[in-house]
Amino acid sequence: MQLKSILFFAICGVFILISSLNSCYYDNEAYLYSSVNCTDTTYTYTGRIKAIVDQNCATADCHAGTNPSSNIGLETYDQVFDNMENGEFLCTIYQNSGCNPMPKNASKLDACALDAFTKWKERGYPEN
Ligand code: HEM
Repeated sequence: MQLKSILFFAICGVFILISSLNSCYYDNEAYLYSSVNCTDTTYTYTGRIKAIVDQNCATADCHAGTNPSSNIGLETYDQVFDNMENGEFLCTIYQNSGCNPMPKNASKLDACALDAFTKWKERGYPEN
């Protein structure tokens, strides 16, 4: 194979790699820099997050009880913290590609509820 064509394919490869990396990073920015105006500015677990999770996720037959869906319980601070830290929680609620959209069989959480999880994470997950 001539040097020219080797160079051509190498440049194509680099170009494809850069554009795929760029699209992946954009997904993450979606929830890193949220900018919605919400009246409720409480960003603690007991003050806001727990109520949203109890109403939308840790319901019976879903992420509660002794046999929670996908073996993921979301009834306690530690359980929600762990699932936020491994990246699954935000990926599922922002319904990013590659994750199962949650809440299952229900509408996507509204922008202020999504923002509450992002701000809770930005503030280091205060419990109270
Ligand atoms: C906003 C609320 C919820 C959150 C944060 C949440 C989070 C998650 C996470 C992180 C997973 C595993 C990741 C994955 O499989 O891609 C998952 C899977 C699952 N969740 Fe939820 N979930 C929520 C609401 C619900 C509800 C209300 C139900 C029941 C109706 C439910 C049922 C399931 C089931 C059955 C799975 C296994 C995968 C599937 O069948 O889609 N989840 N959820």
